[in-house]
Amino acid sequence: MSKATAVPFLPFTRPSIDEATIEDVSNVLRSGWLTSNGPKVQAFESELSGFFSGRPVRTFNSGTCTMETALRIAGVGPGDEVITTPNSWVATANVIIEVGATPIFADIDPRNHNIDAEKIVAAITPRTRAILPVHMCGLPCDMDKIYALATKHSLRVVEDAAQAIGSTWKGKRIGAFGDMVSFSFQVNKNIMTGEGGCLVVNTAEEAELSERYRLQGVSRSGLDGIDVDVLGGKYNMTEIAATMGLAQLRQLATFNAKRLALAKHYFDGFGSDFEARTGAELPVADFEQCNWHMFHIVLPDRVTRATFMQRMLDLKIGVGFHYAAIHLFTLYRKRGFKRGMFPVAERVGRQIVTLPLFPAMNNSDVERVVVAVKSILES
Ligand SMILES: Cc1ncc(COP(=O)(O)O)c(C=O)c1O
Repeated sequence: MSKATAVPFLPFTRPSIDEATIEDVSNVLRSGWLTSNGPKVQAFESELSGFFSGRPVRTFNSGTCTMETALRIAGVGPGDEVITTPNSWVATANVIIEVGATPIFADIDPRNHNIDAEKIVAAITPRTRAILPVHMCGLPCDMDKIYALATKHSLRVVEDAAQAIGSTWKGKRIGAFGDMVSFSFQVNKNIMTGEGGCLVVNTAEEAELSERYRLQGVSRSGLDGIDVDVLGGKYNMTEIAATMGLAQLRQLATFNAKRLALAKHYFDGFGSDFEARTGAELPVADFEQCNWHMFHIVLPDRVTRATFMQRMLDLKIGVGFHYAAIHLFTLYRKRGFKRGMFPVAERVGRQIVTLPLFPAMNNSDVERVVVAVKSILES
């Protein structure tokens, strides 16, 4: 008699944590040094700096406070405007409000979903102090255009590279060039520390200032000298998190190679006529520069996302949506933003769906997802 095997649930993402990392974390727990700028944090910062061509790097406990800190380092505050994308995790815009500045949105490119450099030009005013572009799903923004604009208008750039570790722009690693660059190590990211992040800055002075912003503004001297001269937060990374980060960073190339192979398998599975047949849109097939943080499709308008998501869940396939348009959230509507202002972000925000993609998946998982998506969109 044959026993029917239950189909396992396939989540849209899952971290890869090996036994060696679990052992390393156990050793940190046994050591008693769990936080406060210990040896693991220092080693992680040093390896990250090597990864980003020797630029100064400081770790934090999220990829949100990294951006807030970057804006503070840039001197952005009340009366200033920061131009960003309306299609991102809300953290990207929230940090602008957090430092007392005003978020100004520029709509996204309909194909790559990154901020449209031409729309940035139109959004620049005498109050603009910085541009905060996001490398969505690890696909790099047009860095040439954005940095040319920043130079022309004397603006700082804070790159939200939360999703872009290991991505490149014209052969250069994101984070290894440019102005300040923020990464997240939240659990879904290509490398994770549970929660965490890092900020790449330009100079030793900026690195030192970022250290003060991350821990209550404190600076110390000698054995018992202490002063506070800026208002800082409680943003430091723990030794436990840094231990995971060290192990994950060493596996990043393997993780990203697996993500790339799975992404290619998705494209093969959907086939070149998928878009024409269904009206859905596949992501940009960038097999050179993107770290394939996520694989998303944009559903045709005839299909409501909630219905699609429910049908995928019925087939035991986890899906997500990254992201809803920020300016339509209540907090932002209260600041005067309205539907219709950024039509591309609104459509993408309503119809985008993230499909499963993580290193422990295999080709048969991808094939299962492709069959499910096709069956829903072609029925
Ligand atoms: C584009 C983007 N920006 C910022 C963040 C914030 O990072 P964190 O969750 O580490 O604060 C995330 C995390 O989801 C993100 O995806």
